[in-house]
Amino acid sequence: MGLQIHVDRESCTGHAQCLVHGPDVFVLDDEGFNCAADQEIAPAYEAQATAGAHACPEQAIKLTTDPTDTP
Ligand code: F3S
Repeated sequence: MGLQIHVDRESCTGHAQCLVHGPDVFVLDDEGFNCAADQEIAPAYEAQATAGAHACPEQAIKLTTDPTDTP
């Protein structure tokens, strides 16, 4: 099981730091909120996913490698 991401839409306030640090992982909607779907990240993009998650001031991006960990 690889790295999974989950974006808490309630916590996202549109800082866009996720996109700056993870341009190939995260997607913003028309209003600037992170709308990346829950997904497993390919190994080549794990560094971007991690950097983007850590860069979010609202800590709206959860990372897990545990499939039983439902956010
Ligand atoms: Fe939202 Fe955090 Fe990105 S607030 S737009 S998930 S940096």
